[in-house]
Amino acid sequence: MIHGKRLMVFSGEIHPYRMPVQSMHLDILQKIKAMGFNAVSFYVFWGIHEPKHGDISFEGFRDLQPLFDAAMKAGIYLIARPGPYINAETSGGGFPGWGTHTPGLWRTSNATYLEAYEGYIQTVGSLIAKNQITKGGPVILVQARFHFCAENEYSGVQEPYTEDFEYHRRLLQSLHDAGITVPITTNDAWPGGHFTSVDIYGYDSYPNGFDCSNPYTWKSDAVPEYFWGAHLEINPEDPNAIFEFQGGAFDGWGGSGYEKCSVLLGPEFERVFYKNQYAMSTTIFNIYMIFGGTNWGGISHPGGYTSYDYGAAIAEDRTLREKYYELKLQANFLAVSPAYLTSRPMNIFATQGSFTGNAALKTTQVLDAVGNKTGFYFVRQTDASTNAVQTYQLKLTTSIGDLTIPMIGGSLALNGKDTKIHVVDYTAGSTTLLYSTGEILTWATIDGKDVILVYGNAGELHETAFKFSGKIPVAKVVSGNGEIKQKALAGGSLALQYTTTGQTVVQVGNVLLYILDRTNAYEFWVLHPPTTGPYARFSTDNPVIVKGGYLVRSVDVSRGTLAISGDLNKTSSFEIIAPTASSRSVTFNGVPLSLSRTPYGTLLAKKAANLPVVNLPELSALKWKTADSLPEINPKYSDAKWTIADHTTTVNPNPRGTSVVLWAGDYGYHTGNILWRAHFSASGSETGFSLDIQGGTAFAYSVWLDSTYLGSWVGDSLTGEHQGTYNFPSFLKAGSAHVLTILQDHMGYEGDWWAASDSFKQPRGIRSYSFLGKGVLPQVTTWKLTGNLGGESYVDRTRGPLNEGGLFGERQGWHLPGFDDSRWGSGKPTEGISAAGVSFYRTNFNLNVPKGVDYPLSLVVSNSTTNIYYRAQFYINGYQYGKYVNNIGPQKAFPVPQGILNYNGVNTLAVSLWAAGATGAKINSLALQLTSKVESGITAIVNQPLTAWIPRPGAY
Ligand code: GAL
Repeated sequence: MIHGKRLMVFSGEIHPYRMPVQSMHLDILQKIKAMGFNAVSFYVFWGIHEPKHGDISFEGFRDLQPLFDAAMKAGIYLIARPGPYINAETSGGGFPGWGTHTPGLWRTSNATYLEAYEGYIQTVGSLIAKNQITKGGPVILVQARFHFCAENEYSGVQEPYTEDFEYHRRLLQSLHDAGITVPITTNDAWPGGHFTSVDIYGYDSYPNGFDCSNPYTWKSDAVPEYFWGAHLEINPEDPNAIFEFQGGAFDGWGGSGYEKCSVLLGPEFERVFYKNQYAMSTTIFNIYMIFGGTNWGGISHPGGYTSYDYGAAIAEDRTLREKYYELKLQANFLAVSPAYLTSRPMNIFATQGSFTGNAALKTTQVLDAVGNKTGFYFVRQTDASTNAVQTYQLKLTTSIGDLTIPMIGGSLALNGKDTKIHVVDYTAGSTTLLYSTGEILTWATIDGKDVILVYGNAGELHETAFKFSGKIPVAKVVSGNGEIKQKALAGGSLALQYTTTGQTVVQVGNVLLYILDRTNAYEFWVLHPPTTGPYARFSTDNPVIVKGGYLVRSVDVSRGTLAISGDLNKTSSFEIIAPTASSRSVTFNGVPLSLSRTPYGTLLAKKAANLPVVNLPELSALKWKTADSLPEINPKYSDAKWTIADHTTTVNPNPRGTSVVLWAGDYGYHTGNILWRAHFSASGSETGFSLDIQGGTAFAYSVWLDSTYLGSWVGDSLTGEHQGTYNFPSFLKAGSAHVLTILQDHMGYEGDWWAASDSFKQPRGIRSYSFLGKGVLPQVTTWKLTGNLGGESYVDRTRGPLNEGGLFGERQGWHLPGFDDSRWGSGKPTEGISAAGVSFYRTNFNLNVPKGVDYPLSLVVSNSTTNIYYRAQFYINGYQYGKYVNNIGPQKAFPVPQGILNYNGVNTLAVSLWAAGATGAKINSLALQLTSKVESGITAIVNQPLTAWIPRPGAY
């Protein structure tokens, strides 16, 4: 119960760090709210807040307060998940890089680990504490637990370790000390019954898997049904809570791309798998992800690329997928079905075929155990993967006795990959629906009338029956082409039969029944004008129903005017169902609408979308400057300021085959490109060099002897560690001084999903090496390395610790706006370079996008088919918003949000190009493209600080 009212927590996951434009949080939260959700769950990424032990920062995009404030404005409750471990396909699963050189096992009660996270947990804990609902903020739950505490999915524990109760206790104590008083939850990786002593135990489920390559293929038994039994066994006194239910999938290098994931986890998936969860009376339901966002900078683990779109309901560019609209039907239904909150499934695994007599179907009867009246019948395909249509008649237990429906003849139908929720004795205002096979979208009592919206697939036969207390009224169609059949039933009831085609409105007694096909149903929005006080935007009173528009964000009522805020992608027709007194006039995005009234009292209006043309720069036509970003292979280059790799011991438990440690993490470099230099004096016998080097999946490396390119490993989607042999082109003169330069990728640290596995400590760097040749071989006299300038004492506090890597250009800050490139030569990334190496490119362009629209932009590259071995990074106003690997893919379009792009002024685009082939490379094409155009009620976007280059003392 929140504020005394029982509700379902219908929530979606977002990661604020994957959307660094803080003024954009409100847009995303409003979009989530507009689906009928009331909560959002979010992770906090420890690694970006404490990149150096003790240097804890919530500066810039890392400040959480804008998210808390946006949640209050949108009317969305928050579930905070501060880690310390999060997984989330982030580098190190959220752990800071310095964890790799801190002694002791992590995710255990090892004292060094407890000490490691304490400062962070205290800081983030107190920020969350200040924003708890008990303090006037939006936070209702925090993920961890009392007495012994579970952080994220501490269910998987590496043998021989077992659940570490001392660690749980300590972490919980820390959160408690920080002032957390709202209920503490945990998410078991499966309903496994670990850590049940939290306030609200819950679990995760990703039943349709992560292989998006065959998006139409499901496993026949993919739909889990044992969760209810597990709930009864584990925590029957709690809400049945799912803290992560699959909302999409992550995709990795060389993967299928997110559009396919959005199909595998599309509207059909939502209908079948989510409704299955409702059939188990789930009342805390969080969908992971609802908006995935971007792995900009070095956020990702090696198994992911720049996009973290996730195939979620809200795409990375913030546009809405069909699955968004499907989810809106479900969330809105549950939001007006209080009987569901006290319901119980009656026949999990039992008698499921008996309700229809059709073995291809299974039915779960879910009854309200408190109100003792309402029932929900979930009719599903027995084989989840089938595409076959089944017909059925359904046996119901109702307040007027047992019925077999449809009552007016014919039969009901269920498509493959579909599930229906048929209600029985369902209250909608003063109306009781005896039953309805048409699924309920929403209902509202407006000006004394009960407005009920039902829907089905186009052309499906359905029935809705009403229970009347007095005389049975006659139903009549007041709008639309649909036909209805009606039949009086026992006990003063009336059944209507119809097909769901288009939109038909039926008046029956005090009820306006909207009969909708799915496409029409998708167009409806249910809004609640704010009341007063700090929680005004959380109101669920005084519903207003609006049909039309791409998105309706909110409504406000003032002096008889209904002000609608929303987004339009074309001229849109509206039907508005609102109390007369609060809709004497109506505005959309501030523009008054001219209204007409339907015979049944609702309002009609039309609005053209205001979609001004914008001119986008043609990137290839701009003036570009270029400079060499691999001066390291120049004989005159001095690496005097580089870090000397001289550690002879390490606490990192991984096996090592070198005398000095050659793992970048041990020297404080945890992200982006890493460069190594091996100085040696030739013996005259060496013929080559071989090495075993590790960078994470899809990494690459290139090797030079002095200025001579020896070769590269160009990477593939599976290889994270590589053994390579590089022959020297000619014999070296004995006693001559040489240097090997190795440029490698750091694709992020592995996650640490198995507690106590320490898998995030897998090193990035050289595991072993040797010279080749017969006779006396040389010794490396000095190994040196560099990554990002400053390492853990990173330079760019605005863009955080993971944004820049170790390329010369990055160390110098060439990627930043305002760097003086006037002495550089001319050259474009689409012209590229003709030898292996790294070059940097810069250009500026203006954008002038008017207010009142939302026009997301992407940077789009096309695949080069000659000289294919290269990788590029794209910096927009200094933020690394794309890492493109031409020979691996799959990502070619890189959404860049407004606020990183300056939509009203100058922008700097910088590109690093690493050609890993002897004949060089160029980017085939590069363009800025609009991915959508809507007139928008979006709140003005404020640019993130696009801080300019300042001198970098000591940069090398
Ligand atoms: C879960 C984990 C999340 C995320 C998800 C897959 O097990 O808790 O953080 O990694 O898997 O996207």
